[in-house]
Amino acid sequence: MQPTNSILKINNIEVKYHEVILVIKGVSIEVPEGGIVALLGANGAGKSTILKAISGLLKHEDGQVTDGSIEFMGQRIDRMPPEKIAKMGIVQVIEGRRVFEHLTVEQNLKVGAHMRKFGRSIKEGLEMVYHYFPRLYQKRNETAGLISGGEQQMTVVGRALMTSPKLILLDEPSMGLAPLLIHEIFNIVTRLNAGDLQHHHASQHGGEDLDAARGAERQARLERGALRLRAGNRAHRDERHG
Ligand SMILES: Nc1ncnc2c1ncn2[C@@H]1O[C@H](COP(=O)(O)OP(=O)(O)O)[C@@H](O)[C@H]1O
Ligand SMILES: [Mg+2]
Repeated sequence: MQPTNSILKINNIEVKYHEVILVIKGVSIEVPEGGIVALLGANGAGKSTILKAISGLLKHEDGQVTDGSIEFMGQRIDRMPPEKIAKMGIVQVIEGRRVFEHLTVEQNLKVGAHMRKFGRSIKEGLEMVYHYFPRLYQKRNETAGLISGGEQQMTVVGRALMTSPKLILLDEPSMGLAPLLIHEIFNIVTRLNAGDLQHHHASQHGGEDLDAARGAERQARLERGALRLRAGNRAHRDERHG
């Protein structure tokens, strides 16, 4: 094994719901510092389960990591409560882009800032989000429930960014969006990762959608809860999908 600087290490985990339903077994994934990993797989393969195992949200669904371990920046997190994991700098954008519909776009973003007490100021956070999502700046005073689906997705990603995360987990960020918008969202993810925000590491995940994988250096493909294919670099990936 080569020594790598991984911000996240998932070591051979097994996940069960309700103590008996085995959903994930023997899955190991590493997210390198500053890297993007795309988790692919059909519906029901276990992608969301893995993201919830990382963020700790699994516990709310009576799920548990029953074997293996998850380490974030060298610390074991698979037994930690979700609030503590969030404080360490992991944010999950759950599936279905839920904005607070009655708040404005900017109020939605500010909610993100209040979820974490340290990091940049609200003003700096808003500037950063508007820098990456100029469209949100235009829409900042509009009611979030009334903007388009793509703009809502940008709002929830922006809200996650307001927490100054070290690791972002995006669940189906492209679902239901037009191809052009999907492209825009993933471009932003890639730019965030490469750009001025040195401490952003994104792990994204997008069903069978190959667009999800475009910006990712690594991919992991799940089939019925187990890892089937793993590629460490673009060359492998192109081979597979070419
Ligand atoms: N709360 C739950 N209780 C029991 N089984 C669940 C629960 N959530 C998901 N599952 C099952 O776990 C498997 C993986 O689901 P999921 O992680 O949502 O897959 P994906 O995100 O790849 O579509 C599916 O078979 C699903 O039915
Ligand atoms: Mg899912």
